[in-house]
Amino acid sequence: MAKYIVQKSGPLHGEVEISGSKNAVLPIMAAALLAEGECEILEAPALRDVDVMCKLLRSIGSEVKEDYDNGRIVIRTDKIIEEQAPYELVKRMRASILVMGPLLARTKKAKIALPGGCAIGARPIDLHLKGFQALGAEIEQGHGYVEARADKLTGGKVYLDFPSVGATENIMMAAVLAEGNTIIENAAEEPEIVDLANFMNKMGAKVKGAGTDTIRIEGVPSLHGTRHTVIPDRIETGTFMVAAAITRGNVLLKNVVPDHVKPVIAKLIECGVSIEDSDEGMRVRGDLQPLISTDIKTMPYPGFPTDMQPQFMALLATVSGPSVVVETVFENRYMHVGELNRMGAEIKIEGRSSIIPGDKTLQGAQVICTDLRAGAAMVLAGLMAEGTTEISEIYHLERGYSSFADKFRSLGADLIKVED
Ligand code: EPZ
Repeated sequence: MAKYIVQKSGPLHGEVEISGSKNAVLPIMAAALLAEGECEILEAPALRDVDVMCKLLRSIGSEVKEDYDNGRIVIRTDKIIEEQAPYELVKRMRASILVMGPLLARTKKAKIALPGGCAIGARPIDLHLKGFQALGAEIEQGHGYVEARADKLTGGKVYLDFPSVGATENIMMAAVLAEGNTIIENAAEEPEIVDLANFMNKMGAKVKGAGTDTIRIEGVPSLHGTRHTVIPDRIETGTFMVAAAITRGNVLLKNVVPDHVKPVIAKLIECGVSIEDSDEGMRVRGDLQPLISTDIKTMPYPGFPTDMQPQFMALLATVSGPSVVVETVFENRYMHVGELNRMGAEIKIEGRSSIIPGDKTLQGAQVICTDLRAGAAMVLAGLMAEGTTEISEIYHLERGYSSFADKFRSLGADLIKVED
């Protein structure tokens, strides 16, 4: 198993290019199943998860050509040969569940291995299934699989008890070929939802209201292929913004959509970080004044993103003054706290809240990546910790960040990858 060896690094400096969004490209690749024709996806990030999605689409019957060096994936699905996502692929990537909506729309049936839980929570799919039932599908579960079938899909109305990103995406993809109109209320409003809607509308779908809490879809008989450039990854953006802050550095981020990271900008400014946006990119400086604490509460978009909570907690451990972090989206997204405490952070968990005392000089230690974003937090902490930090189980990280180590090294991070 590979690991990262991270030494205390001076302030990061230079510039970094943000890649295409993992959480936009995965649903868009799944939506390509809906098209009778070729879909060309540009700015696709080179990630393990994208690779798994390519394998899954091929197993369903798609012809997939990937040209990662140029960020280009071409998908063509003339015939669906298998309406299912097998366990061996779903267990590697829970986002495999996103093929359920398109399969149901295209073939009126879908059989998916239940994704199961992960380090950050139980990750149920009840809201996905509630949406499919609202469109007329029958649902059956058994032997670790869930199956949806329908003679035909008709537009319906569904209220999401929680604005689930995946459920919103899956229901959108099932509804675009349904007969009649669908309304999704209390829908997720993330930029990735808007990118998916834009992609499907270019295929001939009629999706309105993406980015608001109410999405209206008018079903159409069929969709054609299209070309689409994926939005930049707002979580990778936030991760490098925090990297500049925690190392008290001066970094220029390129290929950024500031609107997509407004809560991260607001919170970093509260900590005393300088952020300037210009035509050349977004410059983030943590070197202009001593950094101070702030409080964080994760919320569905446009609130502070849960996927930035671990990284921001690493920063808060090193600033002056106490902070409180409240995680409201996932029930178990504090696995990184134990690892940060091994480095001397002295964080206390009280229910859904974490109290970070701050004013700590972290010490290098052997730690593990418990999940994708927690892994990023450990690297950020390692950049500031006295001595050496050894981070194992980094496959989590490489699933979701492309060229992660190279990008950090190009900014001056002392980080090497070693095979165990
Ligand atoms: C997406 O996961 C992202 N993944 C996650 O990013 C992100 O953390 C999450 O949205 C929230 O923003 C992708 O887009 C591939 P949810 P998703 O459904 O869709 C509950 C990363 O690090 N819920 O919005 O699975 C659920 O338990 C990953 O890139 C139900 O109760 O998230 C959770 O508490 C991690 N029933 C909350 O909603 C359901 O049917 C949010 O989950 C579905 C979800």
